[in-house]
Amino acid sequence: MKILVTGGTGYIGSHTVVALQQQGFEVVIVDNLSNSQADIAYQIEKITGQQPLLEVFDLADREKTADFFKRHSDIKGVIHFAAFKAVGESVEKPVYYYRNNLVSLMNILESMQENNVQNIVFSSSCTVYGQPDELPVSEMAPIKKAESPYGNTKQISEEILQDFIKVSNVHAIALRYFNPIGAHESALIGELPLGVPNNLVPFITQTAIGIREQLKVFGDDYPTPDGTPIRDYIHVVDLAKAHVVAVRRMIENKMKQNLEVFNLGTGKGYSVLEVIKAFEKVSGTKLNYKIVARREGDVTQVWADSSFSNDELGWKAEKGLDEMVASAWKWEQAYRSR
Ligand code: NAD
Ligand code: WQD
Repeated sequence: MKILVTGGTGYIGSHTVVALQQQGFEVVIVDNLSNSQADIAYQIEKITGQQPLLEVFDLADREKTADFFKRHSDIKGVIHFAAFKAVGESVEKPVYYYRNNLVSLMNILESMQENNVQNIVFSSSCTVYGQPDELPVSEMAPIKKAESPYGNTKQISEEILQDFIKVSNVHAIALRYFNPIGAHESALIGELPLGVPNNLVPFITQTAIGIREQLKVFGDDYPTPDGTPIRDYIHVVDLAKAHVVAVRRMIENKMKQNLEVFNLGTGKGYSVLEVIKAFEKVSGTKLNYKIVARREGDVTQVWADSSFSNDELGWKAEKGLDEMVASAWKWEQAYRSR
């Protein structure tokens, strides 16, 4: 059973390729390597014993995308990770983000229809909820006006899927990830941010290993118990497994609607200081950090109501915060000593 994983050499994509191969799927990756490296295919092979086929091109190129689908018309499903994801950069370069994230999706959908490929899993984000009025936030919560062009690409993509499934035989599952962190237990694959990391956990591990001097904690005056913002951190390996479940659900015709939306979180929120404490505990190191002003656009707190995905998908995040940060630390150390 052949699955196309777009963005499959990226962070979440690579972990999902491993999970798919371990469940017996054949995987083809398309990635333009704009935020990842081709050697990830070899790292995946070290874990699973199989090297996924990797085709390097830009999915925003309509002809190349159409040609790819013609050559691989036996694909049974698509997991579409490929996108730009840096919130701050999207504010600086909105058109660059809209073009990449939206044109790629539209090219894929057209090619799927032309080649009768019926199933797509789409990477969405909890960013669509903004600061929810009620916590935990369920899939039924209203979508808030996007804080950034990046967030807007996720909202528009979900709308494109909604419109497209009405007029095609394509079925879609949109998975709204909360905050994915951590790495595969082998430490052969993990998160590899280009340049200075935007996200908390890569910044922590890079500070601890000496690449960054000091972590800036963006504000401790939020209305939360310790004053720092709260997020639902989820282990990337748990997240990857949910994609395999979603693909099976589509292929086995178990979907209840032609577009389904699921939250992927643990249902538990942790503050920035709690993440730092967990890191210091599992790594046995003291982290150099200081409290600075709030970062623009940050919401105070968000965590998932994961009951719908737990009940409907029969999937549940299993790994706790200590395991998440320990695996991120193991990966950082292994990568830097390569
Ligand atoms: P990533 O940057 O590690 O992976 C994305 C991959 O897509 C990269 O390998 C990149 O080279 C590739 N890519 C980008 N544009 C492409 C194009 N036009 N053609 C071909 N390849 C292209 O990011 P990730 O963290 O693995 O995120 C995967 C998906 O999940 C993205 O859609 C992202 O928006 C979404 N998401 C991520 C997070 C997160 O915190 N990491 C949270 C919610 C949603
Ligand atoms: C977490 C917390 C920061 C860095 C982002 C995107 C979101 C989704 C997931 C894709 C916040 C604090 C961070 C630092 C800090 N991605 N922090 N110092 O902002 O919840 O979500 O990634 O869809 O769309 O916005 O994640 O890891 O950046 O921040 O204090 O150097 O850590 O203020 O409270 P965020 P994050």
